[in-house]
Amino acid sequence: MDPSSLDRTLDKMRRDWDERARENARFYVNTERTDWTDQEFFASGERTVAEEILTDMTNICQGKDPKQMKILEIGCGAGRVTRALAGLFGEVHAVDVSGEMVALAQEALRDRPNARVYQNNGMDLSIVPGGGFDFAFSTIVFQHIPSREVIENYVREVHRLLRPGALFKFQVQGDPTLQTDSDDTWLGIPFSDEQAVAMAGACGFEPRYRHGAGDQYFWLWYFKK
Ligand SMILES: C[S@@+](CC[C@H](N)C(=O)[O-])C[C@H]1O[C@@H](n2cnc3c(N)ncnc32)[C@H](O)[C@@H]1O
Repeated sequence: MDPSSLDRTLDKMRRDWDERARENARFYVNTERTDWTDQEFFASGERTVAEEILTDMTNICQGKDPKQMKILEIGCGAGRVTRALAGLFGEVHAVDVSGEMVALAQEALRDRPNARVYQNNGMDLSIVPGGGFDFAFSTIVFQHIPSREVIENYVREVHRLLRPGALFKFQVQGDPTLQTDSDDTWLGIPFSDEQAVAMAGACGFEPRYRHGAGDQYFWLWYFKK
């Protein structure tokens, strides 16, 4: 992608997600409902953590006490999952491209001093201080990113911030029949199993497990070499 079209895509992602946040943030974050109560919305984040994290603690913690772990979340939205992550792990750093979403997440995390949320530029993690992260996570974010270049850049950035051996567990769009367009910030670029393996190799990860190839919820377990 040439630099000016990349800038246009980044700008469009920020503007579209700000608009979605203003219209009905919780619906666009989790489209199961249009009228989430606080309690139901954050309970759905606890469910995500129960399904994707608590079932997978061996890969995620690798023997460490979760309360001693520093973790990263990409695309935190209104803090739905971030809140549950902050209840489990010692330190949580989260980014989102939308300032409107970041403001909602900061409000949702007001009573969780171990969580910090940053608005980023939509493609790198330069805003996140430090390094040596023990785990990184992202769900229902890359399935909305229309650029392979942006997703691959995030993978390189996570590699930079993780300690060796640590896991980046994330979900991408795996449905190969989707027609995507760089201007459409709802339908993300799909990855085949071969593309997921190639991206791991290109970015210094071992793609140890994959689940859901061909499906909207294509989960990848990348371990930093
Ligand atoms: C469907 S929401 C999911 C939020 C959260 N992961 C959850 O499960 O509750 C997608 C989020 O990804 C964010 N997002 C979209 N493109 C992004 C990008 N390029 N960089 C960072 N965040 C992005 C949006 O602003 C939005 O908050």
